[in-house]
Amino acid sequence: MNIKKFLSNQIHKSMIKAGIPSKYNVVLRSCKKKKFGDYQINGIISAAIQLKIDPNSLAKKVVKYMKLYNFIYKITILKGYINFFLEKKWISKQINLLINSKTLGLTKICIPKNIVVDYSSPNIAKEMHVGHLRSTIIGDSMVRILSFVGHNVIKSNHIGDWGTQFGILIAFLKFKKKKIDFLLSNIEKLYKQAQLKYSTDTNFAKLAKYYVVKLQQKDKSCLKIWKKIVNITMNYNYKLYEKLNVKLTSKDTMGESTYQDMIPDIIKDLKNKGIAINHNGTIMIPIKGVQNKKGKLMAVIIQKKNGAYLYATVDIACIKYRYDFFKADRILYYVDSRQKQYLNQIFKIVHNAKYIPSNLKLEHHMFGMVLNKNNKPFKTREGKNIKLNYLIDKAIIKSKNILTKKNPSIKNKILTKLSQKIGIGAIKYADLSKNRINNYIFNWDKMLSLNGNTALYIQYAYVRTISLLKKANINLNNFLNFKIKFISHHEFNLAVLFLDFEEIIFDIVNKGTPHLLCNWLYKITVLFSSFYENCKILNIENNLIKISRLKIVFLTSLFLKKGLYLLGIDVIEKI
Ligand code: ARG
Repeated sequence: MNIKKFLSNQIHKSMIKAGIPSKYNVVLRSCKKKKFGDYQINGIISAAIQLKIDPNSLAKKVVKYMKLYNFIYKITILKGYINFFLEKKWISKQINLLINSKTLGLTKICIPKNIVVDYSSPNIAKEMHVGHLRSTIIGDSMVRILSFVGHNVIKSNHIGDWGTQFGILIAFLKFKKKKIDFLLSNIEKLYKQAQLKYSTDTNFAKLAKYYVVKLQQKDKSCLKIWKKIVNITMNYNYKLYEKLNVKLTSKDTMGESTYQDMIPDIIKDLKNKGIAINHNGTIMIPIKGVQNKKGKLMAVIIQKKNGAYLYATVDIACIKYRYDFFKADRILYYVDSRQKQYLNQIFKIVHNAKYIPSNLKLEHHMFGMVLNKNNKPFKTREGKNIKLNYLIDKAIIKSKNILTKKNPSIKNKILTKLSQKIGIGAIKYADLSKNRINNYIFNWDKMLSLNGNTALYIQYAYVRTISLLKKANINLNNFLNFKIKFISHHEFNLAVLFLDFEEIIFDIVNKGTPHLLCNWLYKITVLFSSFYENCKILNIENNLIKISRLKIVFLTSLFLKKGLYLLGIDVIEKI
């Protein structure tokens, strides 16, 4: 249940009974200062002003009806604002509903939508680097969350497996009479040499362009080389996804090459519709109302003079495909903010061409860059991109050091497992917990800290919950309907926060912002820690309180585990 929605609906009814026209909405906020109440209602004052009534007397009228609700414990009016506390018995009932539900109280959506998520999308012939981190892990978390609420999710890894880079590579291999090396890092080196030659040797550049077109025409020997390079790169990437606990496999790879056969017809169609024009042999789509710096009209090129297609041409075809084959209702792009203008242009083109219905939502969920301590792009000392594999290994080594410092006699097997979960959790959480729109600074010390908004802080709290439950050695299944008694505010505030879960999750479903889940998990962990430190849980005589408290611990552990899972982070049972 979405608690805020439920409470708002009920309060809205009281407002109508108090004579407020139904167009006035309830604005419900959690109280920052808990001494005033659990929730505050805003909106009464503005309604009173517009209705020309005294705010306090209007609030009094509303309160008269609200008092009849069983979820209200205490209610006060302060300068027209209504604050209220929730009734403990009512909360207790809600909590039992959560414990007994597979989705932790979340009501799944009734009509699942087909949602395509375009993420990770590395380029071929290169190792993935830090630039692919955000798209890969934010996309992965969104896939988990959208599936959890019941949507039909289509994962789409739009790899850069077509285009000029292959012409350059094939030309270089032929020119050097070289065979393909099976090591991706060597292919990348070769590609760099080839690129250098491409930019300095015009004859070689011509040859490379010739091979792009040859590949496009499905020349057998070109296709063979192409396939080998794609396979070597992707096999490397699949291993990386596995290591990162990212749910992408070969089934989800739909690279740029997938859409090649659709392109000739699309270009013809765009010309027929008058959307694309032929300008001295180049086919382009002028963008209305957009000018470049020199004041010239801008256009998106979709076919070069030599017949080659471009990144944009593929994206146009790709959207059409996603609608035709998957009947997509929404397509989410986890692509960095530098491609904002580009994607907007593509979205306009496919709408103008009527390749998709107007209600299909194309959403660019962009993100900022990863920076170093000096606010510069996070790169190696030589200014090169940092490889993702290197970054992950470093996180694991750092976690190993932390663990062995804490426990020098830790067994090797355990150390290996734990350090992976902690290291990868740290990198992912540091990224996911930031609002994706902004750049963020990569900081090893902060992300591996045991205190503060980090994965380790939450993973550690989970360990505590598990150890408490083990020590208690009580089968909580025998107490599923046992009504929790709230003795201290520590456990009560935690229970109230549990009820926000559904609201947070659906906010993320709409906006693509997993940092909201991180913030919520962090708040749960902070409240759990103060509950743990201030309240007796196991060493308490009164059995009713003991079971009540253990149920809160149990629910905390369920939420932490589910929450971390939805972020793509593993829990730890023991440290
Ligand atoms: N391969 C591209 C890059 O590395 C990202 C692709 C994003 N997705 C898309 N449909 N254009 O920049």
